[in-house]
Amino acid sequence: MDALERYIREMSTPQHETLAWVERQSWLRTSHGRQVSGPEVGALLRTLVRLMQARRVLEIGTFSGYATLWMAEALPEDGRIDTIEINDEMEDLIREGFERAGLSDCIRLHIGDALDLLPTLDERYDLVFIDADKREYVAYYQSVFDLVRPGGLIVADNVLWDGKVYGEDIPRDQQTRGILAFNDLVAGDTRVENFILPLRDGLNIIRKK
Ligand SMILES: C[S@@+](CC[C@H](N)C(=O)[O-])C[C@H]1O[C@@H](n2cnc3c(N)ncnc32)[C@H](O)[C@@H]1O
Repeated sequence: MDALERYIREMSTPQHETLAWVERQSWLRTSHGRQVSGPEVGALLRTLVRLMQARRVLEIGTFSGYATLWMAEALPEDGRIDTIEINDEMEDLIREGFERAGLSDCIRLHIGDALDLLPTLDERYDLVFIDADKREYVAYYQSVFDLVRPGGLIVADNVLWDGKVYGEDIPRDQQTRGILAFNDLVAGDTRVENFILPLRDGLNIIRKK
């Protein structure tokens, strides 16, 4: 953690102890703990859910359920989150965190490929958080677009991709190309207004008109 990150954390409301537990377990029990989005992104998502008074939220890419819990905490009593994770090995950790937080009732975990599951969801979402396979961001966006209510938000994580999507010498790997194609698509989409927030690895904040 660098000095800026430390200062920001110290000057912000601390995360709930269950969130700290999930973050820690993500590092201890998986080999890719850095996939957790972190307290700054979590707090932003929580604030968006609160400000929008969102009742229906969808997350694509649960991992350990860390961001899910930030958003779930901000839901009203009749609110619900659908969250989709392809890796069934994560299920025990995810459910343990939901239980510990006492938020299992408002979260529906779907294990499977989001591209198969999205067409089966019969819901209108206030907010969708896209945070799964970077190669598939365009496909997620296209699949989810009609499920978002007018005025609703799509928030996509990692859209600055560690700086690989701008400047010279842009790598040609599929993940980088996936993010480039996604950002291009959104920038040219007249059905939305958007901006990229350079928080952590970059969030594309997209409002459906
Ligand atoms: C960056 S992690 C998600 C982090 C989590 N949203 C958070 O904020 O803590 C990405 C997750 O997406 C999952 N994933 C990748 N492709 C997927 C797909 N097609 N459908 C559902 N989940 C997928 C991965 O298994 C991984 O757990």
